[in-house]
Amino acid sequence: MNLPRDKRVLLGVTGGIAAYKTPELVRQLGAAGIGVDVAMTEAAREFVTPVTLQAVSGRPVWNDLWDARVPNNMAHIELSRDKGLILIAPASADFIGKLANGLCDDLLSTVALARECPLAVAPAMNRQMWEHPATQRNVQRLRDDGVEVWGPAAGDQACGEVGMGRMLEPEQLCERVVRAFTPKVLDGLRVLITAGPTFERIDAVRAITNLSSGKMGYSIARAAWEAGAEVTLVSGPTALQPPPVARVEHVASAQQMLAAVNSCVATTDIFISVAAVADYHVLNPSEQKIKKDAHILTIELAPNPDILASVSALANPPFCVGFAAESENLDEFAEAKRRRKRLPLLAANLVQTAFGADDNELVLFDDQGRHPLPRAPKIEQARMLVAHIASIYEPQ
Ligand code: PMT
Repeated sequence: MNLPRDKRVLLGVTGGIAAYKTPELVRQLGAAGIGVDVAMTEAAREFVTPVTLQAVSGRPVWNDLWDARVPNNMAHIELSRDKGLILIAPASADFIGKLANGLCDDLLSTVALARECPLAVAPAMNRQMWEHPATQRNVQRLRDDGVEVWGPAAGDQACGEVGMGRMLEPEQLCERVVRAFTPKVLDGLRVLITAGPTFERIDAVRAITNLSSGKMGYSIARAAWEAGAEVTLVSGPTALQPPPVARVEHVASAQQMLAAVNSCVATTDIFISVAAVADYHVLNPSEQKIKKDAHILTIELAPNPDILASVSALANPPFCVGFAAESENLDEFAEAKRRRKRLPLLAANLVQTAFGADDNELVLFDDQGRHPLPRAPKIEQARMLVAHIASIYEPQ
């Protein structure tokens, strides 16, 4: 495993039915470029086999405090020294109790006590066990000791009951590991992002909208969250699941998007305007479905407010990042837009390849000039954009 420390995690699996989800978690961590070693408790082996976890991690699995495969016979020390994080998932009530009290009578609890790196736990148990004062006391003690507690979530439980105690899904745990390993270049900054299309009503069933999928804006929201920002996402209609940011506001029309932006812009440090906002709205939308007849139908359109221009014109504007979607003359039109809207930074992309696609190829324009980014998945483009913003950000 030729990876730096901040790309290696030790996954500790304890005895709970949610252990059956850990092979998928290991697979997703691997896909995110994170190397995984697995250590299991005896009870965990009742729920998932070491063979399965060895197969998906491509690494030997550990569970014996006296494992002689480690040259100095000190697995409890060696296993965590090359790791950037220990994640215990699922973390049973019993194991949380052990951690809270510093007990170490097996390999995993001993590694956790002997660690130098951060520790995160993903609790998973029956709702009564989770709500029990003893568990709550133990969890609070872990928090006080600086341990991160990820979840649990509410929902259906394996025992047939419904309530708090479900382990977070592998995807949610994976995104938290990625965040834990990301440099906090926007730490503590409040970032407001608009994303997706707007939806301008014509009648009860029809509207003017566009082909923006929201992928670029949602990726930027995720990248800013990974970088430590407190993110508010104002989204037009999309089919996407939002990233786990502080606040998500769903809107339809440009007017609604403007109102949502205005409601929080005063407490925003950085505004990133990714939404493809309709330039016009229908002057008199019909409450009823417009009936078809033989005549030409004329719909009157009136200009929408320019949300980005109105924010950058504020007396104390946040640091504003604009986007430009152009079908030709990318550089010329983008730089003209940046100057007209008085933006410190603008990201330009080609309409033909950006709308709806999974990849993008942004060109950034700022006072220092033109900075083309290599074509990459939108989440990678978003991370590069966030790094660039952090490198030139100045409080306005
Ligand atoms: O959502 P995806 O499918 O992932 O596609 C991403 C994208 C192509 C939509 C995105 O990368 C992008 O280019 N967004 C801006 C699209 C756009 O409307 O560009 P524009 O050149 O028309 O607008 C310029 C800037 O003004 C943009 O920051 C826009 O958000 C803002 N604007 C425009 C009009 C308006 N009434 N209010 C605005 O705030």
